[in-house]
Amino acid sequence: MNFIRLPFYSLLLMVAPHSWAQTLAPSNLQVEYQESPIALGTTKPRLSWQLEATKPAGKDLHQTAYEIQVASNKEQFDEPNLWSTGKVTSARTHQITYAGVPLSPRSSAVWRVRCWDQDDSPSEWSSPATFTIGLLNESDWSAKWIASPENPIHETEENVQNFKGTPKGKLHLTPAKHFRKDFEASKPVRALLYATSLGVNTIELNGKRIGDRHLAPGWTSYHNRLHYLTYDVTERIQEGGNTLGATIADGWYAGYVAYGLFVNVAGLDPSRPGRSYYGKHPALRLQLELQYSDGSTKVIGTDPSWKTAFAPHTEADTLMGETYDARLEQDGWSSPEFDDSAWKNAILDEGHKGKLEPHPGVPLRAIEEIKPVSVTDHKPGVFIFNLGQNISGLAKLKVKGKAGDRVTLRFAEIFHNDGRMSTENLRCARAVDTYILKGDPDGEIYLPDFTFHGFQYVEVTGYPGTPTLDDITGVVIHSDTPLISEFESSDPILNQIHSNIVWTQRANYFEIPTDCPQRDERMGWTGDAQVYIKAATYNADIASFTTKWLRDLNDDQWDFGPYPNFAPSPFIRKGMNFAAAWGDAGIICPWHFWQVYGDTTVLEEHWEQMEKFMTFRKERDPQNVGTKVGDSGFGDWLALYQPKTPVEFIDLAYHAHTSQLMSEMAMALGKTERAKYYRDRHRALSASFVKLHVQPDGSLTAANQSKYAMALYFGLIPEGLKQNAADNLAKLIRDNGNKMQTGFLGTRPLLPVLSSHGHHDLAGILMQQTEYPSWGYEVENGATTIWERWNSFIKDEGVHEPGMNSFSHYAFGAVSEWMFAELGGISQLAPGYDLIRIAPRPAGTLTHCKVSTQVRHGKVATAWNLTDGTFKASITIPPNTKAVVSLPIADFSPQTFGSGTYSFSGSYLQD
Ligand code: BGC
Repeated sequence: MNFIRLPFYSLLLMVAPHSWAQTLAPSNLQVEYQESPIALGTTKPRLSWQLEATKPAGKDLHQTAYEIQVASNKEQFDEPNLWSTGKVTSARTHQITYAGVPLSPRSSAVWRVRCWDQDDSPSEWSSPATFTIGLLNESDWSAKWIASPENPIHETEENVQNFKGTPKGKLHLTPAKHFRKDFEASKPVRALLYATSLGVNTIELNGKRIGDRHLAPGWTSYHNRLHYLTYDVTERIQEGGNTLGATIADGWYAGYVAYGLFVNVAGLDPSRPGRSYYGKHPALRLQLELQYSDGSTKVIGTDPSWKTAFAPHTEADTLMGETYDARLEQDGWSSPEFDDSAWKNAILDEGHKGKLEPHPGVPLRAIEEIKPVSVTDHKPGVFIFNLGQNISGLAKLKVKGKAGDRVTLRFAEIFHNDGRMSTENLRCARAVDTYILKGDPDGEIYLPDFTFHGFQYVEVTGYPGTPTLDDITGVVIHSDTPLISEFESSDPILNQIHSNIVWTQRANYFEIPTDCPQRDERMGWTGDAQVYIKAATYNADIASFTTKWLRDLNDDQWDFGPYPNFAPSPFIRKGMNFAAAWGDAGIICPWHFWQVYGDTTVLEEHWEQMEKFMTFRKERDPQNVGTKVGDSGFGDWLALYQPKTPVEFIDLAYHAHTSQLMSEMAMALGKTERAKYYRDRHRALSASFVKLHVQPDGSLTAANQSKYAMALYFGLIPEGLKQNAADNLAKLIRDNGNKMQTGFLGTRPLLPVLSSHGHHDLAGILMQQTEYPSWGYEVENGATTIWERWNSFIKDEGVHEPGMNSFSHYAFGAVSEWMFAELGGISQLAPGYDLIRIAPRPAGTLTHCKVSTQVRHGKVATAWNLTDGTFKASITIPPNTKAVVSLPIADFSPQTFGSGTYSFSGSYLQD
């Protein structure tokens, strides 16, 4: 073996520590996973930073101590008036809980940190960062809830059709409403606007939009919790007359959610099914606080003195789309000169019970714009734009024409082979946007405010003249979880699969982790979320997004114990109150969150409810045999084999697995007695599993690929029998022509299990497979996102199963985890990546692979290539962590490395 170290490595070991002063610098300061937040939901925020190597060639750089200073302003850093930790001997860089002078709502602070490195050399102080505590109590709000005195609801002429073309009923849609208030002000030193609504909002100040959020303030379990967003508008307040304006629409609160017209729930108006689960009409609450240099404040809050009128959005619904009549625009309505004498007074709309909190997640906003790759003249007057990429978001329309011209946009992910646009798979989501021109001679631009779609194609009807490629732009909208992954290999199919996975994640990390962005569901299906969450952490920083959604999930835990099948969950569908592997997300997702981000606060926060769930699970299965109640299980969803894996098998396997995770989490929280309890539960459940399902030779009764994958992944096969079970699994796959048959639950563990049981090469074959069913097959059939079904679309046959067929469904994309953990070889050995496993391994016909991701400590990267029997690898480990490195090189035994970039080369040793 030829072991090349970068030239500096040996040098570093010989040089005296002092000449290497300041090898580390704290950067990327975060408070509660946010950069300089202006409204925190706690007075004890957790502070974190990363360490940057100031000498990039340095090795094994790590922190030995830190010092944090928190003050009311920068000038006070010499003697910090809020908190000074002094030098603390610790390697910790994350989630250090503020423990200084007690803070209260509206307190703001500036903070900085310095660290001491491995040689005890102090760094410079970091650049200062800030944080502000938000409004925490109902008593912090003087603003009132207001609503429009009129809430007309109109029935559309068209009948929404189901996927078979059968009319399902008319839609009941409402217009959006404007609200406005004039006020006098002088220039403040700081102005913060706290804004929320039941329903979704856009805000304007002095004639201009505030912020770049879409569908604010998002979706929560509204009866329990509602978020507000906070905007710093200091620069926007003018001396003299000012005007605050807002527009609100039904959104998830009062509009259509979850199955569109399919479901009606007791207590709701049966003549208007599918909508208004949380409330009948939207309401608004805004509080603008101006702070002056003399310490005084002025507060402008919503109350019945606000004026209201209908907005030009005559229909505005997240699932159904928007109709915007630009002729109804009232110029200058959010500016001080506007005459609102014809507007009505708002009315009070008190009585909402949900706790008001600052939004803890990332913003939902337009992330990028995509130019279409083609526009075709489909039939007379109908044009089809192809974005070349399936996305979630909106189409921006550029148009010039007469007042009253009406342009209609329809959306689709795919085309039928006969040239028709396929909208059947949207089911009851009408997903149509209509723009009625005002006739501006300079042209008009329309981007809807209160809806979103999942699409690659935009059909434009009624366009005055012939549109050019420039007249439609795809606006990609999703929660702004920073993208952090790179994957590049010698197989273009794999590279496209990676791209498809990332695009699918982007389309569905949309305020909550949704199943799909296009049809009438778009719900936080918990089974999908739990199989995919680990993969998601490789591709984006989902820490604050998930912090938010785990609260949604716990808020909607049913009183009798189960976690819901989707969260938020406005209703229980009859007979579907608990589904094994779906409800288990309440345990599995927090566990992954802890593993990846090293965060135990989340476990603490949800612990009691997790225990309640486990009690429910135990009580419904006192014999530890796995149960199925009613139709309360979806099984190995969308698997191809028959007979299906019984729900009882899945139930018992997941029950054992979640008991194991509970015992690990209990240990992390120092609850040793509970840890023992769950260990014992795990033992009992596993023993029962073995008795019921495992034969003396390790084979499973009525075996299939998914059963083996789950049983091995959850550690349910006794030690000495595992290899036999894995070999049986491999045989099942080989006998099936090297093809999978697994559904959502079986696919996720399949490749990891093969790789960890001596069948890595077979995992590689599955990954590179292009015949049906496989990820590669989707790519060969034109996919730009991951499909819900293995056979969602087939070139010669067309679209399959329109009744349930999304082209943007991330569950099967869970294989991303394997691509990073096994091909790229990056995974964590200790919570929070405090110890990393780096073990890249070629598979299939791959000759090179290069991956990277960001962990808490910084970027981890690997790159390898295999030429003529020589394996070369380069790996990068960020400061303040270590990695156990294993490489397929003859004579290379696993070694632990500190931070740095290392290169290796040697003769390839295939396992
Ligand atoms: C969703 C899934 C979900 C499933 C439950 C579907 O309609 O789209 O992804 O997990 O229902 O079986």
